[in-house]
Amino acid sequence: MGAPGRGALDSRLKSLRAELGVDACVINGENAADGIGITPRLADQLFAMGADAITLGNHAFRRTEIGPYLDASNRIVRPANTARSTPGRGLAVVPLPNGSRLAVINVLGSLFLHPATSMFELIDDLVEEARRETPLVLVDVHAEATSEKAALARWLDGKVTAVVGTHTHVQTSDAFVLPKGTAFMTDAGMTGPHDSVIGVEAELAIRRMRTGLPVRFETAQGGVRIEGALIECDAETGKASSIEAVRVPYP
Ligand SMILES: [Fe+2]
Repeated sequence: MGAPGRGALDSRLKSLRAELGVDACVINGENAADGIGITPRLADQLFAMGADAITLGNHAFRRTEIGPYLDASNRIVRPANTARSTPGRGLAVVPLPNGSRLAVINVLGSLFLHPATSMFELIDDLVEEARRETPLVLVDVHAEATSEKAALARWLDGKVTAVVGTHTHVQTSDAFVLPKGTAFMTDAGMTGPHDSVIGVEAELAIRRMRTGLPVRFETAQGGVRIEGALIECDAETGKASSIEAVRVPYP
């Protein structure tokens, strides 16, 4: 989320990767630019900070200059269920430093987010395509409703390594491995300023809600944390053995 989130990752992500023994790191970057959208420069920065892949969400195209970058890069995905005419793709297969390959899929839930197609209409084909390439498959389900995320995870149990939710900016305490080996967590949370209303200066968010008038949002500064999910899995089968919340104060 904005400069505070990027700053935390810039100084801490590489050491965190080493401490946690991380082979692959996927960042949801849809709020990287001032809390909304992402630019080519910022995507490059996130890769340089230690991301192997970037996922997006309902704000994927907010910065229009990202369009050609989405078409050109095979390490960044936008939601697969946006309109056909939108740039980029919803599935990427990313080579990892340890020699294996990770498939990353990004989909949008329906509540409040108005995707062109329901994620349930296309997820089976996407997962099949991913599994033809590698047993390691991560699904970032970018959705408002906890129920949609849980339903998708249950539907995909045994077919993908992990289903991890994003979008609410609020980390959930429900990380667990489903019966057939798919790790699930409703929301990975937010890397950014938590003294805020989901990353926005509280006073500005409150003013907009109380008055109904347009208020220009600014990213908050305080209470920065790196949040995410740490998943352990078998590289041969793609099955997960554990998932836990990551919640690291910064500095
Ligand atoms: Fe979002």
